[in-house]
Amino acid sequence: MLRLTVKNLTRGLAASSVLVGRSAATDAAAACANVTAIRAKHTLPDLPYPYNALEPVISEQIMRLHHTKHHQAYVNGLNTAEEQLAKAQAAKDVPSIARLQQLIRFNAGGHVNHSIFWKNLISIKEGGGVLPDSALKSAIESQFGSLDNLIETMNAQTAAIQGSGWGWLVLNPDTGNLELITLPNQDTPAMVGKTPLLGIDIWEHAFYLDYENVKAEYLKNIWRVVNWKDVISRYDDAIAQAKAKKQQ
Ligand SMILES: [Fe+2]
Repeated sequence: MLRLTVKNLTRGLAASSVLVGRSAATDAAAACANVTAIRAKHTLPDLPYPYNALEPVISEQIMRLHHTKHHQAYVNGLNTAEEQLAKAQAAKDVPSIARLQQLIRFNAGGHVNHSIFWKNLISIKEGGGVLPDSALKSAIESQFGSLDNLIETMNAQTAAIQGSGWGWLVLNPDTGNLELITLPNQDTPAMVGKTPLLGIDIWEHAFYLDYENVKAEYLKNIWRVVNWKDVISRYDDAIAQAKAKKQQ
């Protein structure tokens, strides 16, 4: 069986993977013949809401294109690169292995980031933008003074990214503290040892049709559709995992 290089980068990615392949008997025979019989293919996760749910902050047109074209392209690119990597590894083709690992980094990051991003958002009428009392809220107020201060800092850092990338609120699992970071292209927080909580996609495909070149307006408005309940859930999980790791 092909071992996925990036399968467990986040729960979002793991949940979107399915096994496809031949019958069990055929698989067993093929495995004995040292043939890659079952390949874990990544699939595009459904959006947890209709395409128009985030209007007027993000239009249906953007959401449809972003999900069905851009995210789908990362999924396809990841599957293709993994297939090619398996062949290159079998052939001990080291230059190709090095090239394909870069492709996997990009496409896996894109798949992971967008899988998180969709869940980080929710319609205004379903509670978008409202941060309930929680351990996360206390941590934000303790570290940043207020949610408004966090938003101001994160927007400034995210707007300053040169080229394409993401702004992130993450947990540093070593310190247990919240951090604001930016990452280029489709790099994802797990690549730098951080746990992603909330991501803002600042690639032009995420806002240009609605906001044209006024990046600041997109960054101001997106907070109205942040699904803080999802962010709280990620924070609680990340804190629990960090504590469990320390006790090991
Ligand atoms: Fe995107």
